Amino acid sequence: MKNVRRMYWPELNFVGPGAIKELEKEIPKKGWKKILFVTDKPLVKLGMVAKIEAIFKTAGVAYVIYDESVPNPTMKNVHDGVDLLKKEGCDAIVSLGGGSPQDVAKAISVLATNGGKIGDYEGIELSKKPGLPLIAINTTAGTASEVTINYVITDEVRKIKMVMVDPHCLPKISINDPELMTSIPKSVTAATGLDALTHAVESYVAQGAFCLSDALSLASIKLIGESLEDATNEGTNIEARSKMAWASYIAGLSFSNAGLGIVHSLAHQLGSEYDLPHGVANAILMPYVEAFNAETHPEKFGAIAVALGKDISGKSAKEAAKVAIDAFFEFAEKLEIPALKDTAFNPKDARRLAEQAIKDACTGANPRIVTVDDLEKVYMSAYNQKV
Ligand SMILES: [Fe+2]
Repeated sequence: MKNVRRMYWPELNFVGPGAIKELEKEIPKKGWKKILFVTDKPLVKLGMVAKIEAIFKTAGVAYVIYDESVPNPTMKNVHDGVDLLKKEGCDAIVSLGGGSPQDVAKAISVLATNGGKIGDYEGIELSKKPGLPLIAINTTAGTASEVTINYVITDEVRKIKMVMVDPHCLPKISINDPELMTSIPKSVTAATGLDALTHAVESYVAQGAFCLSDALSLASIKLIGESLEDATNEGTNIEARSKMAWASYIAGLSFSNAGLGIVHSLAHQLGSEYDLPHGVANAILMPYVEAFNAETHPEKFGAIAVALGKDISGKSAKEAAKVAIDAFFEFAEKLEIPALKDTAFNPKDARRLAEQAIKDACTGANPRIVTVDDLEKVYMSAYNQKV
């Protein structure tokens, strides 16, 4: 409690069913000339892009669409988006999607005002100026990219994920409307929901955790325990979708300020190497990583177990930690997350991926100090399904 903490989150946030209507009120206040609207093709197909276009038309603002964002978005996405923004003379950005379009939009925003190539900003706080104004509309619960100071872009040449931690990318306004999430497929709901759980858990046990992030992380874990299965199995259950929208948003506020850990460091490599979806990679790795972390830092896992509705009465810290880790395994099984051995992962790559993961921006926040050997062992323990 002796250290000064800084907390970043968007200056205005709308969360709840129907939140998207607020966009109609906010856009005319801005006086923007032309918006770059960043999204992806699946959302065009689902008709969600047309809904936002209708709002732009009602608000009387010009816009141009960039809808080429791909899962595990690339440098090409970012540079193509910047070229379009410059060609069209856009002075603001609106993003619609899960983490991928959000990360592309954040990267475009930083490049639009700072210049250069996105690789120039890999690392911590390397840009000099605030990015172009960005309104981020989230459609998954989820990555929470709409509220964080981080973004991740794949360098398709080096085959690595570049992690940028930079307050200059922070959206001005975030919108989380569970009504936009009801058509998200079951497997995506499960994977993105477990990404949100990973955010809440990693931020709760991170070295940078503090009183406010602790409260946020536990609140998020509780909501996920109450609603993720229902949101996955009954996509139109608006109560469950609302709880997950809040859980994702709250976990984002926490990890953006407290940090993450090696679930994300290791998962980033599986995304860049094998194009494994981010949530799936996290969901596979989290039980094994947290079993490893709990060996030396079991003290906070009991509270995670309780937040997930488990009984830990009479248990030691280590026994209570095991209850939490068993609950993570239970989630992965119920939500049909594949095993690492059933993905494209090749155990021969484990050493090389561990060498990359140790350099990931998330590694330093992990509660247990790690070596490349440790990271390789975690990959192999997930591969062999042995804690
Ligand atoms: Fe994540």
